[in-house]
Amino acid sequence: MKMMSVVGARPNFMKVAPIISAIRQHNYWKSTDAHGKSAAEECPRLEHMLVHTGQHYDALMSDSFFADLKLPEPHIHLGVGSGSHAVQTAEIMRKFEAVLLQERPDVLALVGDVNSSLACALVASKISFGSNGSRPLIAHVEAGLRSFDRSMPEEINRIVTDHLSDLLFVTEESGIRNLAQEGVPAEKVHFVGNTMIDSLLACKGKAQVSTILDDLGLRSARCDNGSGQLVVRYALLTLHRPSNVDNRDAFLNIMEGLEELAKEVPIVFPAHPRTQKRIAEFGLEDKFKWNLVRREATGEGASCRCAIRITEPLGYLDFLCLMSKARLVVTDSGGIQEETTCLGVPCVTVRENTERPVTITVGTNVLAGVTKEGIRAAVRRQLTSKFTARAPELWDGRSAERILDAIVREVQAQRAASNGAAAAACGRVGPTDERGSGAHLRGEDARIP
Ligand code: UD1
Repeated sequence: MKMMSVVGARPNFMKVAPIISAIRQHNYWKSTDAHGKSAAEECPRLEHMLVHTGQHYDALMSDSFFADLKLPEPHIHLGVGSGSHAVQTAEIMRKFEAVLLQERPDVLALVGDVNSSLACALVASKISFGSNGSRPLIAHVEAGLRSFDRSMPEEINRIVTDHLSDLLFVTEESGIRNLAQEGVPAEKVHFVGNTMIDSLLACKGKAQVSTILDDLGLRSARCDNGSGQLVVRYALLTLHRPSNVDNRDAFLNIMEGLEELAKEVPIVFPAHPRTQKRIAEFGLEDKFKWNLVRREATGEGASCRCAIRITEPLGYLDFLCLMSKARLVVTDSGGIQEETTCLGVPCVTVRENTERPVTITVGTNVLAGVTKEGIRAAVRRQLTSKFTARAPELWDGRSAERILDAIVREVQAQRAASNGAAAAACGRVGPTDERGSGAHLRGEDARIP
C-alpha cells in the first residue's frame, strides 16, 4: 500500500511527523510479526512518500523543523515559493498533478488548512489513474474546524479540503458537529485527537534542554536557594495573520494593546517573515523602540530596555521551550492556542473568533478581539487566572496511530469491495446483473488501484 503525505508550510511539519513515525512503527511490527503470512497480509506494509510543496522555503520556516522533528528528507520538492493565493495554489496544482500521475499512491494524506493542502486536495479529487477513473483516497487530518469567518483564507481551505476528502480526521468534538451540519456523511468522519499534540508530547522533554532561555537572557542570575537559576517572567508573542499585520493601523492598535504588558514583563516576539517585512515597510521599529535582535547578537538579557524583543522565527524545540516557560502567550496562530492548552499556559488570542473552541471551553485560551481595550482586558484577566494543564479528549499522543489504523482499514475494505465487485461482475454481467453494467461497477468501486 502506498501512501503520500504533503507538507508545505510551517504548521504542517509537526502534524505530519507523528504520522510518519506511526508508519515506521507499523512497518517495524509488520516485519517482526510472529503470526506469519496471514497476519502480514491483513496488515500490509506501507510505502510512504513525503512531498514538500515549498510554500515555506526559508531555512528557519522549514529546514529547522525537519531537523527538530527528525523528519525524513522529502522525496519530492515542488519548490513553489511565495505568490498571491491564486498563483501559489495554481503553481502547486500544476506541479503536484505530475507527481500524482507518476506515483499513483493509494492514499493521499493532507494536514491542516494551508494553501498546499487545498491545492493538493483539488488535484487528487479530479485525477484519474486510468480508464477506470481510480484516484487516491484523500485523508484530511485536522478536519472539521470552522471559524465561520470566510474572510480567513484558511476557512476557505478547510471547507473545500473537507468536502473533497474521503476520510476526515477530527481533532475536537466541534469538528464532528460542523461536518454533520454541512452534510458530510458520518462514516467518513473519525474523531482521533490531535497529531500536533502527538508531536508536542513526544518533544516536550527534548525541548527542555534547549538553550533558548540563555540565548535570550531569560534566566535570572538570582538563585533559588542555591538549587539553580530561575527563569525570568516573560510573555511570548506571535502575530502573522494578514488581517493583523498587513494593515498599519491594525498592527499599531495591537501593539498599543500590549504596551501595559510590555511595562510589566519582557515580551519575546519571534516574527514571521511577513511580519518582519511589514515592520520595516510601516517604519515601526523606531516608533516602538524595537530592536531587531538576532539570536547570536543577544546578550542584553532581561534588562534590555526594549520591552518587545523581536527575534527571527524560532525552531520547533526552541519555541516549545519558550512557550512552556512563558507566563503568558499572545498569538493569532491556530496551533499555538492548542499547544498552550496542552501545556497549561495562559493564552490570549488576538482574533475575533477561533476555529478551535475546545481551547476555550477546556483549555487556557481567551479571545481578546483585536481592539487595544480588548487585548488589555484579556491580558489582565489571564495574568491573574490560575490554570492547570488539561488535555482535551483524545489529545493523548496517539492520534497518528488511530489515523493510520483507520486508513489501513479503509483501504482494505475498499480493496475487498473492489475485488468482490469484480468477481461478481465476471459472473453476472449482463441483463441479470442487479447492479447494472460492468462499467458502472468499475467507476464506483475501483477507487483503489
Ligand atoms: C501560511 C498559512 C497560514 C499559517 C502560516 C504559518 C495559508 C493560506 N496560510 O501563512 O495558515 O498559519 O503559513 O506560518 O496557507 N515568506 C518568507 N519565507 C517563507 C515563507 C513565507 O519570506 O519561508 C513570506 C513571503 O513574503 C510570503 C509571506 O511570507 O509572501 C506569506 O507566506 P505564505 O506562505 O503565503 O503565507 P503565511 O502568512 O506564511
